Formats: sequence, C-alpha cells, structure tokens
Amino acid sequence: MSARNQKASNEQGSGDASSKSNPEALESSIVETVADPKRRRLLVRSAAAVGGLGGAALVLPMLGSMSPSARAKAAGAPVEADISKLTPGQMITVEWRGKPVWIVNRTEETLGRLATETAKLSDPDSLEEQQPTYTQNPVRSIKPEYLVVVGLCTHLGCSPTYRPEIAPPDLGDQWDGGFFCPCHGSKFDMAGRVYSGVPAPTNLEIPPYRYIDDATIIVGEDSGVAA
Ligand code: FES
Repeated sequence: MSARNQKASNEQGSGDASSKSNPEALESSIVETVADPKRRRLLVRSAAAVGGLGGAALVLPMLGSMSPSARAKAAGAPVEADISKLTPGQMITVEWRGKPVWIVNRTEETLGRLATETAKLSDPDSLEEQQPTYTQNPVRSIKPEYLVVVGLCTHLGCSPTYRPEIAPPDLGDQWDGGFFCPCHGSKFDMAGRVYSGVPAPTNLEIPPYRYIDDATIIVGEDSGVAA
C-alpha cells in the first residue's frame, strides 16, 4: 500500500467513527478518499441523506409525542371557543394553560339575581384582583350573558360543580345557582363571586379573553395581545 493510500485508509477509518455523530466529517472523508468524481458525488449525497435521517431520528422522539396544537396549548397559547350552540343555562369547558375555563350562557333571570343577591357574598364588587379590569363589573364579564371563568376553586384548586338550579335540597334555600366545591364546601354565585364564610378566600379567576365575533371567544388574549 502506498503512503498516500495508507493515509487515506487511516483517515477513512477514523472518519467512520466520527461520522456517526458528524455527517460533515463523513462527507469530507468521502471527498478526500474517492477519486472518481461521479462515484464521489453519489456517496456524498448518500452521506447527506443518512446524516439528515440521523438528525431527524434525534428530534422526532421529542416532537413526535405532541401534536402542534398540543405543543401550543402546553405553552399557553390562546384558545378559541365556539359559543354559537350554547343555549341559555348551558356551560361548556375549554382548556387553557392546563386549566378548565368555563363559558356559561346566563339567563335573564340569573342576571337579575346577580344584581340583587349580593349580601351573602364576600367580595360582591370584585375588588380583589381576580379579573381583568374590563370585567370588574357586577356580572364580571364583557357581554352580560356570557360568563368566562377559570373552573378552579380558590381554596385548594379543586374543580367546583356547576349547579344552576335554585335552592336544591342539598344546597339550601339561600342557593341562587352557581358553582359548588364539594371538597370543603365553598360556594360561588353565577358570576364566580365567593360566598362569605366558606374556605375559598377570593372570587373565581376571570381569564383574559376577547370576542372575535358574536359566536367566537378567544381565551388567553385581550385587545389583540396574548396574556
Ligand atoms: S378546594 Fe374548594 S373548598 Fe377546598
């Protein structure tokens, strides 16, 4: 074996080891050791393809387990909610930043009670910062009929139950409809305002949100800026 061929053989041998983790090293090794230009081009293309596959193989296990929308949600991206089929009294749940967000279509009767039945509430005027300023009003919402609220109790984070009925036997005469947390008995009205004398210290949280149109709400974004 000539000195030149011995050198090429040595370099190719060391290139095999390093090229497993470095495709560029494999390409340069091929360029240096294969004399025929046609064969060299073919081998370089193959090496590039193998290098690309190797890179993809490293990335795919990390990204493949999550869909694009799941990745966006996990990062806290705003979530769109279709409320076009939400009839009065109904509630839907969307997930934002891993939390349930309830959207409730409140009836005229419910809205009437929110204005008058405030004596039993701890913070009827929402003075605690549990909502964006544009929902610091008696109904705690942008449009009166639609409540948008994080469905987690402000005591220890259980998810309360939606109980829109009036004075059911298990909740008593004073119950005007709202959200009941069975964990330790906290009660919230249909605006997410907490009753006095229960473990939960504050009203339920109102997330940032806005309307795209009459039938669509974006949760997690207000005034065109993500929260
Ligand atoms: S977590 Fe709701 S009352 Fe304790």
